[in-house]
Amino acid sequence: MRIDIISVAPNLLESPFSHSIIKRAQDKSLAEITIHDLREFGLGNYKQIDDTQFGGGAGMVMMIEPIANCIRKLQSERDYDEIIYMTPDAKTLNQSTANTLSLKENILILTGHYKGVDQRIRDLFITKEISIGDYVLTGGELAAAVLVDAIVRLIPGVIGDEQSALTDSFQDNLLSPPVYTRPSDFEGNKVPEILLSGNFPKIEDWRSDQAYKRTKEIRPDLIADE
Ligand code: ADE
Repeated sequence: MRIDIISVAPNLLESPFSHSIIKRAQDKSLAEITIHDLREFGLGNYKQIDDTQFGGGAGMVMMIEPIANCIRKLQSERDYDEIIYMTPDAKTLNQSTANTLSLKENILILTGHYKGVDQRIRDLFITKEISIGDYVLTGGELAAAVLVDAIVRLIPGVIGDEQSALTDSFQDNLLSPPVYTRPSDFEGNKVPEILLSGNFPKIEDWRSDQAYKRTKEIRPDLIADE
């Protein structure tokens, strides 16, 4: 999968993709992540990318030309399955969206700053808008990093143990059951007996039961949504 990200703060995006599983995915050529500096498409000597709002109001708006020029250049190089705009005024990211996006070939992600982008960018180019939660970040970069992480770990072959992505929280609209490792007794706090029994069908039943109980207690909305 190829992921292109357009940003005015490319440095913010370097670290999240340079470590651990996301780095390995790139080393194994399962994901190719390229960051494009919007400033290079800025207008005039000062490489302007934002301007005041028509109609008045506080805050700068990201201009249409630099973004349109950047998107068009990238589109001339490949077809994108989705052009995504990260913004708090959109539907919230969930596992189902991450699953769907992990099956795509080419994704382009636009990150916003200031008051956001000129609405015509959204009307003309954007095919999907995603928020990562009901709060406002200083820019879309961290939100894009969250989205890319959620997608890339789902690409087949990225996580060694295929099971582990399939049994994540949310894959079946349930939170994960509790997990334990050695020691089986920490200062009198014991691991549930069933996990030491070796009876795997029973262990699976226990895990399903715990996942359901946890979800009902912490996120009843997930069960109600079904
Ligand atoms: N940009 C600023 N806040 C955001 C959010 N919550 N989700 C996506 N992009 C954003």
